[in-house]
Amino acid sequence: MLIRFKKNMEKIAMGLLSFMPDEKKDVKKLQNTIKEYESNPNWNLYLWKEEDVLGAIGVRVEEHHVIIQHVSVNPSHRNMGIGKKMINEIDQLYQENYTVYAGEEVQDFYQKCKSDNV
Ligand SMILES: CC(C)(COP(=O)(O)OP(=O)(O)OC[C@H]1O[C@@H](n2cnc3c(N)ncnc32)[C@H](O)[C@@H]1OP(=O)(O)O)[C@@H](O)C(=O)NCCC(=O)NCCS
Repeated sequence: MLIRFKKNMEKIAMGLLSFMPDEKKDVKKLQNTIKEYESNPNWNLYLWKEEDVLGAIGVRVEEHHVIIQHVSVNPSHRNMGIGKKMINEIDQLYQENYTVYAGEEVQDFYQKCKSDNV
């Protein structure tokens, strides 16, 4: 299930976000990203928790839309549908009040999830 990120989950969240192409080569950027999720009320990070935390999905909320900025799944648990479940849950959470978009890095995977749903 999708749970809201809390500060005591910082290490696991950083580990997951570090798989994003734009974050993985730059520790400073990753630290800034996690700080933004902790402090900016418009940046919301969620974790996918089964027995362990297996995925992360982060959004930026703007006036009329929500942008999915980060999606990442533990490499040992990929291709089991977790990424798609996270995308679908975020859509359900926000689509009543916002238009949901995927950020540049998430675009292809988001389209793939939407086309699987039809
Ligand atoms: C992208 C990612 C989140 C997918 O998570 P996942 O739990 O393995 O995804 P699912 O099991 O729900 O879906 C797997 C399907 O998505 C496809 N897929 C994976 N990454 C994709 C991408 N970047 N673009 C399009 N399709 C992609 C797989 O080929 C697979 O297709 P199939 O079902 O037809 O075989 C995961 O591979 C990951 O963490 N990658 C590293 C982080 C990253 O690059 N994020 C940016 C892209 S979101």
